[in-house]
Amino acid sequence: MLSVAILAAGKGTRMESSLPKVLHKISGKSLLQRVIDSCIELNPDQIFVITGHKSKEVQDSIQNNKKIHFVIQDPQLGTGHAIQVLCKEVKENKGKLLVLNGDVPLIKPDTLNRLLNLHNSKNADVSLITTSKKNPHGYGRVFLKEDLIERIVEEKDCTNQERLNLLINAGVYCFNWENLSKIINKLQSNNNQKEIYLTDTISLLKNSISLEIDDDGELQGINNRIQLSTCEEIIQNLIKEKHMLNGVTFINKASCSISEEAEIGKDVIIEANTHIRGNTKIFNNCVIGPNTFIENSKIGLNCEISNSTVYDSQIIDHIKIGPYSHIRPNSKISSFSKIGNFVEIKNSQLEEESKVNHLSYIGDSIIGRSTNIGAGTITANFDGQKKHQTKIGKNSSIGANTVFVAPINLGESVTTGAGSVITKDSKDNSLAISRTKQVNIENWERKKS
Ligand code: UD1
Ligand code: CA
Repeated sequence: MLSVAILAAGKGTRMESSLPKVLHKISGKSLLQRVIDSCIELNPDQIFVITGHKSKEVQDSIQNNKKIHFVIQDPQLGTGHAIQVLCKEVKENKGKLLVLNGDVPLIKPDTLNRLLNLHNSKNADVSLITTSKKNPHGYGRVFLKEDLIERIVEEKDCTNQERLNLLINAGVYCFNWENLSKIINKLQSNNNQKEIYLTDTISLLKNSISLEIDDDGELQGINNRIQLSTCEEIIQNLIKEKHMLNGVTFINKASCSISEEAEIGKDVIIEANTHIRGNTKIFNNCVIGPNTFIENSKIGLNCEISNSTVYDSQIIDHIKIGPYSHIRPNSKISSFSKIGNFVEIKNSQLEEESKVNHLSYIGDSIIGRSTNIGAGTITANFDGQKKHQTKIGKNSSIGANTVFVAPINLGESVTTGAGSVITKDSKDNSLAISRTKQVNIENWERKKS
Protein backbone atom coordinates (compact mmCIF):
# COMPACT_ATOMS: atom_id res chain seq x y z
CA MET A 1 0.00 0.00 0.00
CA LEU A 2 1.42 3.34 -1.08
CA SER A 3 0.07 6.64 0.23
CA VAL A 4 1.38 10.06 -0.68
CA ALA A 5 1.27 13.24 1.41
CA ILE A 6 1.98 16.56 -0.26
CA LEU A 7 2.78 19.45 2.06
CA ALA A 8 1.02 22.53 0.74
CA ALA A 9 -0.27 24.37 3.81
CA GLY A 10 2.41 27.03 4.20
CA LYS A 11 1.99 30.66 3.24
CA GLY A 12 5.30 31.03 1.46
CA THR A 13 6.30 34.18 3.34
CA ARG A 14 9.49 34.60 1.32
CA MET A 15 7.51 34.86 -1.93
CA GLU A 16 6.15 38.24 -0.72
CA SER A 17 2.86 37.38 -2.43
CA SER A 18 -0.87 37.32 -1.74
CA LEU A 19 -0.99 34.08 -3.74
CA PRO A 20 -0.15 30.93 -1.75
CA LYS A 21 3.33 29.77 -2.76
CA VAL A 22 2.28 26.41 -4.19
CA LEU A 23 -0.11 28.19 -6.59
CA HIS A 24 2.66 30.13 -8.28
CA LYS A 25 3.19 28.74 -11.75
CA ILE A 26 6.12 27.61 -13.82
CA SER A 27 5.57 27.12 -17.52
CA GLY A 28 1.84 27.54 -17.05
CA LYS A 29 1.27 24.94 -14.32
CA SER A 30 1.20 25.48 -10.54
CA LEU A 31 3.96 24.08 -8.35
CA LEU A 32 1.43 21.93 -6.52
CA GLN A 33 -0.15 20.51 -9.69
CA ARG A 34 3.33 19.57 -10.90
CA VAL A 35 4.08 17.64 -7.72
CA ILE A 36 0.69 15.92 -7.92
CA ASP A 37 1.22 14.99 -11.59
CA SER A 38 4.62 13.46 -10.80
CA CYS A 39 3.32 11.28 -8.01
CA ILE A 40 0.20 10.19 -9.91
CA GLU A 41 2.63 8.43 -12.29
CA LEU A 42 3.55 6.11 -9.39
CA ASN A 43 -0.05 4.94 -9.21
CA PRO A 44 -0.38 5.36 -5.44
CA ASP A 45 -3.46 4.12 -3.56
CA GLN A 46 -4.25 7.54 -2.08
CA ILE A 47 -2.90 11.07 -2.14
CA PHE A 48 -3.32 13.47 0.77
CA VAL A 49 -2.84 17.12 -0.01
CA ILE A 50 -2.28 19.06 3.18
CA THR A 51 -3.58 22.59 2.90
CA GLY A 52 -3.94 25.40 5.42
CA HIS A 53 -3.13 28.91 4.29
CA LYS A 54 -5.93 29.95 1.86
CA SER A 55 -6.91 26.30 1.72
CA LYS A 56 -10.02 26.81 -0.42
CA GLU A 57 -8.04 28.59 -3.10
CA VAL A 58 -5.42 25.84 -3.07
CA GLN A 59 -7.99 23.02 -3.14
CA ASP A 60 -9.99 24.64 -5.95
CA SER A 61 -6.88 24.92 -8.11
CA ILE A 62 -6.32 21.19 -8.35
CA GLN A 63 -7.54 19.06 -11.24
CA ASN A 64 -10.10 16.53 -10.03
CA ASN A 65 -8.80 13.11 -9.17
CA LYS A 66 -10.58 10.41 -7.16
CA LYS A 67 -7.42 9.52 -5.26
CA ILE A 68 -6.93 13.00 -3.81
CA HIS A 69 -8.10 13.74 -0.27
CA PHE A 70 -7.59 17.05 1.47
CA VAL A 71 -6.39 17.41 5.03
CA ILE A 72 -6.52 20.81 6.68
CA GLN A 73 -3.64 21.93 8.87
CA ASP A 74 -4.67 25.00 10.80
CA PRO A 75 -2.62 26.63 12.26
CA GLN A 76 0.55 25.74 10.37
CA LEU A 77 3.17 24.90 12.96
CA GLY A 78 5.72 23.30 10.64
CA THR A 79 6.27 20.37 8.30
CA GLY A 80 6.32 17.87 11.19
CA HIS A 81 3.06 19.29 12.51
CA ALA A 82 1.49 18.81 9.06
CA ILE A 83 2.23 15.08 9.28
CA GLN A 84 1.01 14.96 12.90
CA VAL A 85 -2.33 16.31 11.68
CA LEU A 86 -2.39 13.75 8.84
CA CYS A 87 -1.61 10.82 11.15
CA LYS A 88 -4.42 11.87 13.46
CA GLU A 89 -6.94 12.40 10.69
CA VAL A 90 -6.30 9.15 8.83
CA LYS A 91 -7.25 6.12 10.87
CA GLU A 92 -4.99 3.55 9.28
CA ASN A 93 -1.32 4.57 9.29
CA LYS A 94 -0.11 1.59 7.26
CA GLY A 95 2.15 0.78 4.33
CA LYS A 96 4.50 3.33 2.81
CA LEU A 97 3.97 7.06 3.15
CA LEU A 98 5.75 9.13 0.53
CA VAL A 99 5.99 12.73 1.74
CA LEU A 100 6.70 15.47 -0.80
CA ASN A 101 7.17 19.17 -0.24
CA GLY A 102 4.69 21.04 -2.44
CA ASP A 103 7.41 23.53 -3.37
CA VAL A 104 9.81 21.07 -5.06
CA PRO A 105 7.99 20.99 -8.41
CA LEU A 106 10.42 19.34 -10.82
CA ILE A 107 10.81 16.02 -9.05
CA LYS A 108 10.67 13.19 -11.61
CA PRO A 109 8.58 10.04 -11.24
CA ASP A 110 11.70 7.97 -12.05
CA THR A 111 13.54 9.43 -9.10
CA LEU A 112 10.58 8.77 -6.82
CA ASN A 113 10.54 5.17 -8.04
CA ARG A 114 14.23 4.80 -7.28
CA LEU A 115 13.57 6.02 -3.74
CA LEU A 116 10.69 3.56 -3.28
CA ASN A 117 12.81 0.67 -4.58
CA LEU A 118 15.67 1.50 -2.22
CA HIS A 119 13.23 1.86 0.67
CA ASN A 120 11.73 -1.58 -0.04
CA SER A 121 15.06 -3.31 -0.50
CA LYS A 122 16.47 -1.97 2.77
CA ASN A 123 13.22 -2.28 4.69
CA ALA A 124 13.91 1.21 6.04
CA ASP A 125 11.98 3.31 8.55
CA VAL A 126 12.63 6.33 6.40
CA SER A 127 14.45 6.89 3.13
CA LEU A 128 15.04 10.33 1.74
CA ILE A 129 16.68 12.01 -1.21
CA THR A 130 19.85 14.01 -0.75
CA THR A 131 22.21 15.79 -3.08
CA SER A 132 25.42 17.71 -2.75
CA LYS A 133 24.91 21.37 -3.63
CA LYS A 134 27.58 23.95 -4.40
CA ASN A 135 25.40 26.54 -2.73
CA PRO A 136 23.31 24.76 -0.09
CA HIS A 137 22.00 27.98 1.46
CA GLY A 138 18.48 27.60 2.87
CA TYR A 139 18.35 23.81 2.81
CA GLY A 140 18.48 21.38 5.73
CA ARG A 141 21.93 19.76 6.03
CA VAL A 142 22.11 15.97 6.20
CA PHE A 143 24.63 14.32 8.55
CA LEU A 144 25.51 10.71 7.92
CA LYS A 145 27.00 8.13 10.22
CA GLU A 146 28.28 5.22 8.20
CA ASP A 147 25.36 4.12 6.01
CA LEU A 148 22.64 5.76 8.06
CA ILE A 149 21.42 9.32 8.42
CA GLU A 150 22.13 10.55 11.90
CA ARG A 151 20.25 13.84 11.79
CA ILE A 152 19.16 16.77 9.67
CA VAL A 153 19.90 20.31 10.82
CA GLU A 154 17.99 23.23 9.31
CA GLU A 155 20.06 26.12 7.93
CA LYS A 156 18.82 28.42 10.68
CA ASP A 157 19.84 25.99 13.42
CA CYS A 158 23.28 25.16 11.99
CA THR A 159 26.52 26.14 13.66
CA ASN A 160 29.05 27.78 11.33
CA GLN A 161 30.81 24.43 11.09
CA GLU A 162 27.61 22.53 10.25
CA ARG A 163 26.75 25.07 7.58
CA LEU A 164 29.84 23.96 5.61
CA ASN A 165 28.18 20.59 4.96
CA LEU A 166 27.03 20.61 1.31
CA LEU A 167 24.79 17.53 1.55
CA ILE A 168 21.19 18.73 1.61
CA ASN A 169 17.74 17.31 2.26
CA ALA A 170 15.61 17.56 -0.88
CA GLY A 171 12.29 17.41 0.98
CA VAL A 172 11.29 14.03 -0.50
CA TYR A 173 10.80 11.20 2.01
CA CYS A 174 9.44 7.67 2.09
CA PHE A 175 8.36 6.50 5.55
CA ASN A 176 7.25 3.22 7.03
CA TRP A 177 3.98 4.81 8.08
CA GLU A 178 3.34 2.57 11.05
CA ASN A 179 6.74 3.29 12.58
CA LEU A 180 6.43 6.99 11.78
CA SER A 181 3.09 7.24 13.55
CA LYS A 182 4.65 5.81 16.73
CA ILE A 183 7.12 8.68 17.07
CA ILE A 184 5.42 11.55 15.22
CA ASN A 185 3.92 13.09 18.36
CA LYS A 186 7.31 13.22 20.05
CA LEU A 187 8.44 16.06 17.80
CA GLN A 188 9.15 19.33 19.59
CA SER A 189 9.52 22.91 18.42
CA ASN A 190 12.59 23.83 20.43
CA ASN A 191 14.55 25.30 17.51
CA ASN A 192 15.34 28.75 16.15
CA GLN A 193 12.16 28.89 14.04
CA LYS A 194 9.91 27.55 16.83
CA GLU A 195 8.48 25.10 14.29
CA ILE A 196 7.76 21.40 14.46
CA TYR A 197 10.17 19.98 11.90
CA LEU A 198 9.46 16.79 9.94
CA THR A 199 13.22 16.43 9.61
CA ASP A 200 13.49 15.74 13.37
CA THR A 201 11.81 12.36 12.80
CA ILE A 202 15.14 11.10 11.40
CA SER A 203 16.92 10.92 14.71
CA LEU A 204 13.83 9.35 16.32
CA LEU A 205 13.67 6.53 13.76
CA LYS A 206 16.16 3.68 13.66
CA ASN A 207 16.79 2.76 10.08
CA SER A 208 17.10 6.11 8.28
CA ILE A 209 18.73 5.88 4.87
CA SER A 210 19.41 8.20 1.99
CA LEU A 211 19.47 8.12 -1.79
CA GLU A 212 22.05 10.61 -2.99
CA ILE A 213 21.51 11.73 -6.57
CA ASP A 214 23.29 14.04 -8.99
CA ASP A 215 20.83 16.88 -9.24
CA ASP A 216 20.22 18.23 -12.73
CA GLY A 217 17.76 20.74 -11.27
CA GLU A 218 14.87 18.46 -10.32
CA LEU A 219 15.47 18.94 -6.59
CA GLN A 220 15.34 22.73 -6.74
CA GLY A 221 13.04 23.96 -3.98
CA ILE A 222 11.17 27.23 -4.27
CA ASN A 223 11.12 29.64 -1.36
CA ASN A 224 11.44 32.94 -3.22
CA ARG A 225 10.99 34.40 -6.69
CA ILE A 226 14.64 33.97 -7.58
CA GLN A 227 14.23 30.22 -7.16
CA LEU A 228 10.91 30.38 -9.04
CA SER A 229 12.74 31.92 -11.96
CA THR A 230 15.54 29.33 -11.68
CA CYS A 231 12.94 26.54 -12.00
CA GLU A 232 11.32 28.25 -14.98
CA GLU A 233 14.71 28.37 -16.66
CA ILE A 234 15.41 24.71 -15.90
CA ILE A 235 12.10 23.57 -17.33
CA GLN A 236 12.34 25.85 -20.38
CA ASN A 237 15.82 24.55 -21.17
CA LEU A 238 14.54 20.98 -21.04
CA ILE A 239 11.60 21.79 -23.33
CA LYS A 240 13.75 23.65 -25.88
CA GLU A 241 16.45 20.98 -25.88
CA LYS A 242 13.80 18.38 -26.67
CA HIS A 243 12.59 20.44 -29.66
CA MET A 244 16.11 21.21 -30.89
CA LEU A 245 16.94 17.51 -30.91
CA ASN A 246 13.76 17.01 -32.96
CA GLY A 247 14.78 19.52 -35.64
CA VAL A 248 13.67 22.95 -34.41
CA THR A 249 16.02 25.95 -34.65
CA PHE A 250 15.97 28.68 -32.02
CA ILE A 251 17.59 31.93 -33.12
CA ASN A 252 17.68 33.38 -29.63
CA LYS A 253 16.74 30.62 -27.25
CA ALA A 254 16.83 32.59 -24.03
CA SER A 255 14.21 35.09 -25.21
CA CYS A 256 11.61 32.43 -26.13
CA SER A 257 9.26 30.31 -24.05
CA ILE A 258 7.47 27.14 -25.10
CA SER A 259 4.73 25.31 -23.21
CA GLU A 260 5.23 21.67 -22.32
CA GLU A 261 2.22 20.61 -24.40
CA ALA A 262 3.36 22.38 -27.57
CA GLU A 263 4.23 20.22 -30.56
CA ILE A 264 6.62 21.61 -33.15
CA GLY A 265 7.53 20.00 -36.47
CA LYS A 266 10.85 19.72 -38.28
CA ASP A 267 12.76 22.62 -39.79
CA VAL A 268 10.69 25.12 -37.88
CA ILE A 269 12.61 28.28 -37.04
CA ILE A 270 11.67 30.09 -33.87
CA GLU A 271 12.92 33.66 -34.00
CA ALA A 272 13.71 35.84 -30.99
CA ASN A 273 11.12 36.78 -28.40
CA THR A 274 8.56 34.22 -29.46
CA HIS A 275 6.21 32.57 -26.99
CA ILE A 276 4.29 29.41 -27.76
CA ARG A 277 1.64 28.73 -25.12
CA GLY A 278 -0.89 26.06 -24.27
CA ASN A 279 -1.91 23.36 -26.63
CA THR A 280 -0.31 24.69 -29.80
CA LYS A 281 0.79 22.56 -32.73
CA ILE A 282 3.16 23.91 -35.36
CA PHE A 283 3.79 21.83 -38.47
CA ASN A 284 7.00 21.54 -40.54
CA ASN A 285 8.92 24.38 -42.19
CA CYS A 286 7.31 27.33 -40.43
CA VAL A 287 9.13 30.48 -39.42
CA ILE A 288 7.62 31.88 -36.25
CA GLY A 289 8.62 35.28 -34.88
CA PRO A 290 10.34 37.45 -34.00
CA ASN A 291 8.07 38.95 -31.32
CA THR A 292 5.21 36.52 -31.73
CA PHE A 293 2.75 35.02 -29.24
CA ILE A 294 0.72 31.94 -30.15
CA GLU A 295 -1.71 30.22 -27.78
CA ASN A 296 -3.80 27.07 -28.25
CA SER A 297 -3.58 27.22 -32.03
CA LYS A 298 -2.72 25.03 -34.96
CA ILE A 299 -0.23 26.38 -37.50
CA GLY A 300 0.04 24.36 -40.71
CA LEU A 301 2.97 23.67 -43.03
CA ASN A 302 5.21 26.44 -44.39
CA CYS A 303 3.65 29.35 -42.55
CA GLU A 304 5.42 32.58 -41.67
CA ILE A 305 4.17 34.56 -38.71
CA SER A 306 6.07 37.61 -37.52
CA ASN A 307 5.42 40.23 -34.84
CA SER A 308 1.90 38.91 -34.31
CA THR A 309 -0.43 37.26 -31.82
CA VAL A 310 -2.64 34.25 -32.50
CA TYR A 311 -5.16 32.85 -30.00
CA ASP A 312 -7.29 29.69 -30.23
CA SER A 313 -7.27 29.60 -34.01
CA GLN A 314 -6.38 27.46 -36.98
CA ILE A 315 -3.91 28.66 -39.53
CA ILE A 316 -3.75 26.15 -42.38
CA ASP A 317 -0.78 25.77 -44.79
CA HIS A 318 1.43 28.28 -46.66
CA ILE A 319 0.12 31.38 -44.92
CA LYS A 320 1.86 34.64 -44.15
CA ILE A 321 0.77 36.57 -41.11
CA GLY A 322 2.10 39.91 -39.94
CA PRO A 323 3.85 41.99 -39.10
CA TYR A 324 1.45 43.28 -36.42
CA SER A 325 -1.55 41.04 -36.99
CA HIS A 326 -3.88 39.95 -34.20
CA ILE A 327 -5.77 36.72 -34.79
CA ARG A 328 -8.39 36.32 -32.07
CA PRO A 329 -10.20 33.14 -30.97
CA ASN A 330 -12.15 30.88 -33.23
CA SER A 331 -10.67 32.01 -36.51
CA LYS A 332 -9.72 29.78 -39.40
CA ILE A 333 -7.40 31.05 -42.10
CA SER A 334 -7.21 28.67 -45.06
CA SER A 335 -4.19 27.81 -47.21
CA PHE A 336 -2.25 30.37 -49.25
CA SER A 337 -3.94 33.32 -47.54
CA LYS A 338 -2.21 36.43 -46.35
CA ILE A 339 -2.97 38.56 -43.29
CA GLY A 340 -0.94 41.73 -43.19
CA ASN A 341 -0.04 44.80 -41.18
CA PHE A 342 -2.33 46.01 -38.41
CA VAL A 343 -5.10 43.52 -39.20
CA GLU A 344 -7.41 42.10 -36.53
CA ILE A 345 -9.40 38.95 -37.28
CA LYS A 346 -11.95 37.57 -34.82
CA ASN A 347 -14.25 34.54 -35.01
CA SER A 348 -13.97 34.47 -38.78
CA GLN A 349 -13.34 32.03 -41.53
CA LEU A 350 -11.21 32.97 -44.51
CA GLU A 351 -11.19 30.55 -47.45
CA GLU A 352 -8.11 29.73 -49.55
CA GLU A 353 -6.02 32.46 -51.13
CA SER A 354 -7.87 35.30 -49.48
CA LYS A 355 -5.98 38.46 -48.61
CA VAL A 356 -6.46 41.01 -45.86
CA ASN A 357 -3.28 42.95 -46.19
CA HIS A 358 -3.59 46.27 -44.39
CA LEU A 359 -5.32 48.00 -41.48
CA SER A 360 -8.56 45.99 -41.25
CA TYR A 361 -10.98 44.56 -38.69
CA ILE A 362 -12.70 41.37 -39.78
CA GLY A 363 -15.07 40.03 -37.11
CA ASP A 364 -17.76 37.32 -37.23
CA SER A 365 -17.19 36.95 -40.97
CA ILE A 366 -16.96 34.37 -43.70
CA ILE A 367 -14.73 35.45 -46.57
CA GLY A 368 -14.78 33.38 -49.75
CA ARG A 369 -11.90 31.97 -51.72
CA SER A 370 -9.51 34.35 -53.55
CA THR A 371 -11.25 37.44 -52.21
CA ASN A 372 -9.14 40.54 -51.67
CA ILE A 373 -10.06 42.83 -48.81
CA GLY A 374 -8.82 46.37 -49.50
CA ALA A 375 -6.85 48.39 -46.99
CA GLY A 376 -8.79 49.81 -44.09
CA THR A 377 -11.88 47.63 -44.52
CA ILE A 378 -13.99 47.23 -41.38
CA THR A 379 -16.82 44.85 -40.55
CA ALA A 380 -19.11 46.81 -38.24
CA ASN A 381 -20.36 43.69 -36.45
CA PHE A 382 -21.83 45.18 -33.28
CA ASP A 383 -25.09 47.12 -33.17
CA GLY A 384 -24.67 48.05 -29.53
CA GLN A 385 -26.45 44.93 -28.32
CA LYS A 386 -25.67 42.00 -30.57
CA LYS A 387 -22.92 40.79 -32.87
CA HIS A 388 -23.83 40.13 -36.52
CA GLN A 389 -22.27 38.22 -39.39
CA THR A 390 -20.66 39.48 -42.61
CA LYS A 391 -20.53 37.08 -45.56
CA ILE A 392 -18.53 37.87 -48.69
CA GLY A 393 -18.50 35.41 -51.60
CA LYS A 394 -15.46 34.14 -53.49
CA ASN A 395 -13.40 36.13 -56.02
CA SER A 396 -14.63 39.43 -54.63
CA SER A 397 -12.67 42.64 -54.62
CA ILE A 398 -13.39 44.90 -51.67
CA GLY A 399 -12.37 48.52 -52.18
CA ALA A 400 -10.19 50.30 -49.67
CA ASN A 401 -11.96 51.69 -46.62
CA THR A 402 -15.20 49.77 -47.13
CA VAL A 403 -17.40 49.49 -44.05
CA PHE A 404 -19.76 46.51 -43.89
CA VAL A 405 -22.66 47.16 -41.55
CA ALA A 406 -23.56 43.62 -40.46
CA PRO A 407 -25.63 41.54 -40.86
CA ILE A 408 -24.71 41.62 -44.50
CA ASN A 409 -24.43 39.06 -47.26
CA LEU A 410 -22.53 39.65 -50.51
CA GLY A 411 -22.53 37.22 -53.41
CA GLU A 412 -19.56 35.99 -55.42
CA SER A 413 -17.32 38.21 -57.56
CA VAL A 414 -18.68 41.34 -55.97
CA THR A 415 -16.75 44.61 -56.15
CA THR A 416 -17.24 47.43 -53.66
CA GLY A 417 -16.24 51.00 -54.35
CA ALA A 418 -13.51 52.41 -52.16
CA GLY A 419 -14.88 54.31 -49.20
CA SER A 420 -18.35 52.73 -49.39
CA VAL A 421 -20.57 52.04 -46.40
CA ILE A 422 -22.35 48.83 -47.38
CA THR A 423 -25.69 48.32 -45.65
CA LYS A 424 -27.56 46.22 -48.23
CA ASP A 425 -26.92 42.70 -49.50
CA SER A 426 -25.73 42.41 -53.08
CA LYS A 427 -25.89 39.66 -55.67
CA ASP A 428 -23.16 37.81 -57.60
CA ASN A 429 -21.13 39.85 -60.09
CA SER A 430 -22.39 43.25 -58.88
CA LEU A 431 -20.66 46.48 -57.97
CA ALA A 432 -21.78 47.89 -54.63
CA ILE A 433 -20.97 51.53 -54.16
CA SER A 434 -22.34 54.08 -51.72
CA ARG A 435 -20.61 57.39 -51.69
CA THR A 436 -21.32 60.91 -52.87
CA LYS A 437 -19.97 61.86 -56.23
CA GLN A 438 -16.94 64.09 -56.29
CA VAL A 439 -17.63 67.72 -57.18
CA ASN A 440 -14.84 69.84 -58.66
CA ILE A 441 -15.38 73.59 -58.35
CA GLU A 442 -13.09 75.26 -60.77
CA ASN A 443 -11.15 78.47 -60.29
CA TRP A 444 -11.87 78.31 -56.59
CA GLU A 445 -9.78 80.52 -54.37
CA ARG A 446 -9.45 80.37 -50.63
CA LYS A 447 -10.87 83.49 -48.93
CA LYS A 448 -8.14 85.92 -47.97
CA SER A 449 -8.23 86.95 -44.35
C1 UD1 B 1 12.25 22.11 4.08
C2 UD1 B 1 13.05 21.14 4.96
C3 UD1 B 1 14.52 21.25 4.60
C4 UD1 B 1 14.72 20.92 3.13
C5 UD1 B 1 13.82 21.80 2.25
C6 UD1 B 1 13.86 21.26 0.83
C7 UD1 B 1 11.82 21.06 7.08
C8 UD1 B 1 11.81 21.47 8.49
N1 UD1 B 1 12.83 21.49 6.34
O1 UD1 B 1 12.68 23.43 4.38
O2 UD1 B 1 15.26 20.35 5.39
O3 UD1 B 1 16.08 21.09 2.78
O4 UD1 B 1 12.47 21.77 2.68
O5 UD1 B 1 13.21 22.09 -0.08
O6 UD1 B 1 10.94 20.34 6.64
N2 UD1 B 1 4.35 23.36 4.94
C9 UD1 B 1 3.16 22.89 5.45
N3 UD1 B 1 2.84 23.18 6.75
C10 UD1 B 1 3.65 23.91 7.55
C11 UD1 B 1 4.88 24.37 7.02
C12 UD1 B 1 5.21 24.08 5.72
O7 UD1 B 1 2.39 22.23 4.76
O8 UD1 B 1 3.28 24.13 8.72
C13 UD1 B 1 4.69 23.06 3.53
C14 UD1 B 1 4.96 24.30 2.70
O9 UD1 B 1 3.77 24.77 2.09
C15 UD1 B 1 5.99 23.80 1.69
C16 UD1 B 1 6.69 22.64 2.40
O10 UD1 B 1 5.88 22.31 3.51
O11 UD1 B 1 5.37 23.32 0.53
C17 UD1 B 1 8.10 23.00 2.86
O12 UD1 B 1 8.04 24.11 3.76
P1 UD1 B 1 9.13 25.25 3.78
O13 UD1 B 1 8.79 26.20 4.85
O14 UD1 B 1 9.33 25.79 2.43
O15 UD1 B 1 10.43 24.42 4.23
P2 UD1 B 1 11.95 24.77 3.94
O16 UD1 B 1 12.36 25.85 4.85
O17 UD1 B 1 12.16 24.97 2.49
CA1 CA C 1 10.87 25.19 0.80
